Amino acid sequence: MAIQPEKLTSMHPISRRDFVRLGAGTVAAGAAMKATLLHPASLATETAPGEPVRFVSIGTGIRGCELLRSARKVPSGVCVGTADLYEMHRKAGLEAWGAQVPTSGDYRSLLDRKDVDAVIVATSDHLHRRVVLDAVAAGKDVYCEKPMSHNVADGLAMVDAVAAGKRIFAAGSQRVSNIVYKKAAEIYASGRLGEVHLIEGHSDRNSPSGAWVYPVPPDATAQTIDWDSFLRDAPQRPFDAARFFRWRCFADYGEGVAGDLYVHLISGIQCVTGINAIPSRAYSTGSLTHFNDGRDFPDLLATLYDYPGVTVSLHCNQNNDAGEPIIFCGSEATMTINGNTLTVTPQNTVPQPEGYGLNGWTAAAKQQYLDEWHAAHPAPPPKLADVETYAAPPDYDDTVDHLAAFFRAARTREHVVEDEVFGNNAAIACHLANHSYFHRTIATWNASAKAIQS
Ligand SMILES: NC(=O)c1ccc[n+]([C@@H]2O[C@H](COP(=O)([O-])OP(=O)(O)OC[C@H]3O[C@@H](n4cnc5c(N)ncnc54)[C@H](O)[C@@H]3O)[C@@H](O)[C@H]2O)c1
Repeated sequence: MAIQPEKLTSMHPISRRDFVRLGAGTVAAGAAMKATLLHPASLATETAPGEPVRFVSIGTGIRGCELLRSARKVPSGVCVGTADLYEMHRKAGLEAWGAQVPTSGDYRSLLDRKDVDAVIVATSDHLHRRVVLDAVAAGKDVYCEKPMSHNVADGLAMVDAVAAGKRIFAAGSQRVSNIVYKKAAEIYASGRLGEVHLIEGHSDRNSPSGAWVYPVPPDATAQTIDWDSFLRDAPQRPFDAARFFRWRCFADYGEGVAGDLYVHLISGIQCVTGINAIPSRAYSTGSLTHFNDGRDFPDLLATLYDYPGVTVSLHCNQNNDAGEPIIFCGSEATMTINGNTLTVTPQNTVPQPEGYGLNGWTAAAKQQYLDEWHAAHPAPPPKLADVETYAAPPDYDDTVDHLAAFFRAARTREHVVEDEVFGNNAAIACHLANHSYFHRTIATWNASAKAIQS
């Protein structure tokens, strides 16, 4: 394997070990490999002119805290308040931001503030609609975590409200702002992959954490958690800490692996292909075996989607750690995104005389065929193109870029890529997958009725 390090940069040094790892196992015999380290754009250039966007964070649990830690690295936004239903999460949110700001158990008090430009929504999914609609009504721009909606009706209501309120909206699948996905989109658009009619992706994990069996903190009680507010827009039931912390397992609040994980794969695929559409059909199958702990959702889900011109095959398996690649299968090359690494492997389409099909031919007939074939192909065969690998720096945080894109849009009033329509399309694809699984049928998107049908 010949490695050509000419594109390595000294700005983000990469060890020889890492460099070799980038291409390991990807290079066909005789092909060369070219590895490139991608640079995140400087956050200074991502920042639109003007004062930083003043935002409040609603929901400071796992993701809310991650977002606040990433936001500390983005100079174009400043947190001026937080809200959460659980005492410890309110304290953790302040720790994550690293400075004292007003914090509340009731997010509406933050929306009343005139000094707040924008809202980051990182509540459980079933409350996205309520919080987003309240934020839009208060004239705020919104960054709402993925999946944008808990169901089709919620998503459509959010799209309408954002458009009517002329707000900037960003959905929170951060890989849409990832430099590796941007490079993949550039390669896809160039046509170098040839015709792509199949895209495969999966997001597999093999641990209780990967199946959302999160620990319940010892101080979690009906006194420290505002359970009634959590149950707004959900069926009433007695306090249940497991439901509060493991809400992804339950259909009243989450959408299982589809809403949690498919949405990242689908958002990535929409971003790379430019197909910003709802699939016309989805067929799912799967099972609930290992994590059969009273949850509503399967721990294995596999879905085939019909997108315009391309079949998309996804699965999420919570019983095997096979990682989370997306593979774009082109007639000229295969492009694979795996974490923050992108590999383009050319297909060997160099013309060759037939081999296998001649097994039933006589020696004389074979010879005649080969003589004629070589006479018709006098030029030496073209060299197989290089395998190309691109990677983000090891410490790259795409949430930083995603937040920076949102803050910039809030200043410029230009839509982000992952706006309310994009986010809603990705979320509806997740709802189609679940509809198919639970109704044991092909789920069809009726675009004129804006509804899922069996
Ligand atoms: N983009 C990503 O990679 C990523 C990763 C994890 C989670 N998420 C998404 O982020 C969201 C939150 O997930 P999580 O893992 O942080 O869940 P979590 O349960 O850890 O945190 C959710 C928090 O929202 C709070 N909350 C709920 N309703 C509220 C309300 N009305 N007012 C104020 N606070 C409220 C809860 O008290 C809780 O602390 C979900 O939509 C999830 O899908 C995205």
